Amino acid sequence: MSQYSIDMSIRPEVTGFFDPATNTISYVVRDPQSTSCAVVDSVMDIDYAAGRITYDHADAIIAHIREHGLTLEWIIETHVHADHLSAAPYIQAALGGRIGIGDKIMVVQETFGKIFNEGTEFQRDGSQFDALFADGDVYHVGRMPVVAIATPGHTPACMTHVMGDAAFVGDTLFMPDGGSARADFPGGDAGTLYDSIQKVLALPDGMRLFMCHDYAPGGRDIRWETSVAEERAHNIHVGQGRSREEFIRFRTQRDATLDMPRLILPSLQVNMRAGELPRDPDGRPMLKVPVNGL
Ligand SMILES: [Fe+2]
Repeated sequence: MSQYSIDMSIRPEVTGFFDPATNTISYVVRDPQSTSCAVVDSVMDIDYAAGRITYDHADAIIAHIREHGLTLEWIIETHVHADHLSAAPYIQAALGGRIGIGDKIMVVQETFGKIFNEGTEFQRDGSQFDALFADGDVYHVGRMPVVAIATPGHTPACMTHVMGDAAFVGDTLFMPDGGSARADFPGGDAGTLYDSIQKVLALPDGMRLFMCHDYAPGGRDIRWETSVAEERAHNIHVGQGRSREEFIRFRTQRDATLDMPRLILPSLQVNMRAGELPRDPDGRPMLKVPVNGL
């Protein structure tokens, strides 16, 4: 049983927005007892080859929130994504709300502050975000309590956000036929990821789980919703009681074969700043490529 206080009788309305460019799913989550809502893991569009930023995906989320007359209270990042850029500040400028992430963001900022050779103006204290959550912290979307559960391993700052009977797991798990995310980025750890997955699998059987990514294995349609019971029974990497040792062996071998995500360099620089673009000394938005730095 989970040590966290979970209320499965609260059933928020969840709307997913799939981004085909990065296979990311963003969510609008509505408190069933009010017009308050949260956005989880938004996406800013980038044409990296051209250095061009656009906002079609975020605009669709903003339009949905406006059309339904909702009040945006929270803009949540489940972690510092390495494969897409967050649109949190763009959405916040349009609709308000507070941007929140796990407090281990400081570890991530320390690690990548070094890799990108950031100057002292890049704060490593998480102050770019409006709220930092520790394991077990509770915040509210309208009247709905949300429990932030630390689920590190893929990255140090990963959290699962449990809103009533819906849990947003970030990259802690994929759909049962997708398994799990890599654990080889700086600060990642396969054993830690296994332990975090067990925390998710200890949530109630009927808990709806919402993925941050889906890659449609085997050519099936894109899917992003499953349940704790489904993952426990069928997850190809951790289901049916796969042992910690077995998982570490498998995950480590698999990760050694994977290329870096296409957008890891721009993603990290933007996402460790809560979605703001870094700027050059003249104040122009500018991204770096550290050579042989990763
Ligand atoms: Fe990720």
